[in-house]
Amino acid sequence: MNASPMFGRRRTEIDTPPVARPAAASTSPTPPPPLPMPVHNVPVSIPIPTSTSDSLAELRSLALQQLDPAAAAALSPERLGPEIEKLVADIATERRIQLNAREQRQLASELVNDMLGLGPLQPLLDDEGIADIMVNGPDRVFIERQGRVTLSNVKFRDAQHVANICQRIASAIGRRIDESSPMVDARLADGSRVNIVFPPLALDGPYVSIRKFTRRKIDFARLVALGSMTAQVARVLEIASRSRLNVIISGGTGSGKTTLMNALSRMIDPAERVITIEDAAELQLQQPHVVRMETRPPSLEGKGEVTQRDLVRNALRMRPERIIIGEVRGGEAFDMLQAMNTGHDGSMSTIHANNTRDALTRIENMVQMGNMGLPSKAIKTQIVGAVDLILQVERHRDGGRRVTQVTDVVGLEGDVVILNDIFQFEFTGETPEGRLSGAYKIGRGRPSFWERLVYFGMDRAWVAAMEEANW
Ligand SMILES: Nc1ncnc2c1ncn2[C@@H]1O[C@H](COP(=O)(O)OP(=O)(O)OP(=O)(O)O)[C@@H](O)[C@H]1O
Ligand SMILES: [Mg+2]
Repeated sequence: MNASPMFGRRRTEIDTPPVARPAAASTSPTPPPPLPMPVHNVPVSIPIPTSTSDSLAELRSLALQQLDPAAAAALSPERLGPEIEKLVADIATERRIQLNAREQRQLASELVNDMLGLGPLQPLLDDEGIADIMVNGPDRVFIERQGRVTLSNVKFRDAQHVANICQRIASAIGRRIDESSPMVDARLADGSRVNIVFPPLALDGPYVSIRKFTRRKIDFARLVALGSMTAQVARVLEIASRSRLNVIISGGTGSGKTTLMNALSRMIDPAERVITIEDAAELQLQQPHVVRMETRPPSLEGKGEVTQRDLVRNALRMRPERIIIGEVRGGEAFDMLQAMNTGHDGSMSTIHANNTRDALTRIENMVQMGNMGLPSKAIKTQIVGAVDLILQVERHRDGGRRVTQVTDVVGLEGDVVILNDIFQFEFTGETPEGRLSGAYKIGRGRPSFWERLVYFGMDRAWVAAMEEANW
């Protein structure tokens, strides 16, 4: 067995070591060969650096020279970690580099992450408290924790280091990223959503935006506990879902649209056949009869693209009971309305918009763009017939995400769509801890979908929920 030795090979930079996953290595029938002992064959005339960062850089570069990424990639992190720690300690002793044990351990784990994980991003990905990671340049990595965005102390060595990690993310899903295709949407092995922009579009080195996959499921109870809505609003949304209303969730970037849709989807009856259509699969439906589909970007030759619109059209031939579209952003809006209008009640989607009325205007614009010449009134008639309820979510300056509007799409009067806010959140003040406080203003009267509530036997539940909310 002639696996390349881990030490003794000279290298200047870890570029893209093979993505052989450690798990595969540990289950393979032939175990990896034992590691050869370190060979310290580097000249001894290197000056001893003075500051900690110089020492670190020195030690890192010496360790890199002696590491063979191919051999390292064949090892599990559990085995690789101690090996690299030992290598780092040996070099430090031999060269009399002044770093304490903690600093040496840190360097070793950084090297392990570079080789097997996603480099400096790995600790952030492993930290469950972090929701978003945004790399704006090698030493400007921002994170979002509990709704607040701050600069982290994570740093890449340079722009090339960021680029190497990006390449690894892209190549894991069979994509290439370079100057000719400088934008890539990808998904990490754990389900996190990633967008990468390379120079020349990115002016300060590659940009990376990661929406982390949340293992912790956020259901209605959790949303109520987080202060994102009251128990009464949750109850009303539950009734809406059980009555198979068509719902649009509207909000800004990262306001919590997908999370709310996931929570709503938990109310879907397990017997129903649900088809989900997304650009990057994020929905986590728990039901057994869920059919998940994801769009495909064009190949490098510009061929083979499958859009959301294609998938919605195809979904209609798959005998769906409900169709869930991750986010409407284009021509598929028209097909979504058609689906909602033709018996696929209980369908849902999200949209980027500032309030519930704006959401309807955006849908109208999207339909118009894809179907030039369709009169505005005809589109509005379609929308009013299709959409029953619009929910608005917002991320507020205190970091909280809240449902701010629950709007009933009542009907059309002339050219105007009539909307009625069932709930509208209004701020009342701020607590001493900086939390915003507020209450819901509650709309009066029966909703326009009353008949449907009666049909599903949910009318009494609705009245009870609204009475409780009015207290
Ligand atoms: N009500 C909430 N309370 C606390 N955290 C939340 C809440 N809703 C969502 N989050 C967290 O906020 C982040 C963004 O949520 P989500 O992905 O649902 O937003 P989005 O509006 O769909 O974003 P995008 O516009 O990027 O698709 C996630 O990390 C999620 O876990
Ligand atoms: Mg989303």
